[in-house]
Amino acid sequence: MTRRPYIVGNWKMHGTRAMLSEARAIDRAAQRHMKVEVALAPPYTLIHPIHREAEQIGVGAQDCHHAEGGAHTGDISAAMIADAGAKFVILGHSERRTAHGETDSRVQAKAESALAAGLRIIMCCGESAETRESGNAVAFVKAQLRGSLPAFEQLLGELGDRLTVAYEPIWAIGTGTAATTDDIAEMHAAIRSLLVELYGEEQGNDVRIIYGGSVKPENATAIFAVPNVGGALVGGASLTADTFMGIALAASEPFDV
Ligand code: 13P
Repeated sequence: MTRRPYIVGNWKMHGTRAMLSEARAIDRAAQRHMKVEVALAPPYTLIHPIHREAEQIGVGAQDCHHAEGGAHTGDISAAMIADAGAKFVILGHSERRTAHGETDSRVQAKAESALAAGLRIIMCCGESAETRESGNAVAFVKAQLRGSLPAFEQLLGELGDRLTVAYEPIWAIGTGTAATTDDIAEMHAAIRSLLVELYGEEQGNDVRIIYGGSVKPENATAIFAVPNVGGALVGGASLTADTFMGIALAASEPFDV
């Protein structure tokens, strides 16, 4: 199955209710780009208000706890974010792996908990600058994914409906300089072959692999032309409807010609 390009905004720790107007503008614009699947992952506090108003975009969270509930002050479970209206959750982002010490096995536990709560998952992976310079980027990312992806039995139904992989090289996040299209092509091909190895030909090819790291309207067309790129996970440029929808437009253009 050929899936629509998936353009996801990760608002990180940005956004109070004053940003609801921006989410509204993104939702309205998304209704004009139906060939692209547009989604937003705002802070937890904005999931419900955006979900309540959104007509077109999907709404998700940026993380969840791996436990179903209990004495975990300050944490939030997959069922809670689903109850607030989230349809998906981003897991294993490098900012959480680094700042919160999240290991591959912890990320895997979160993935299994999220799937059990009926959420789709966007599983992040990506190497540091040091790992890339040492020539081990592909091996590192494959090992990280092997350790973080949920067990196959949990991914019931169409795999592409439940799982998206986001390749986000740490050195490209928030720097203004995206990875080169050659680097993206090499890594996405390696991730594709891992998915086929883990989940079989049909299911492994059904999963979208999206790229993240300084995606903007100016570089989006070139990135979306790379084989095995099924969309983008966008940080800074997702905070305004203009730039975010510029990226969505670039994703819809191949269909318009
Ligand atoms: P930027 O688009 O700001 O580089 O962030 C990428 C990212 O981390 C999305 O999850």
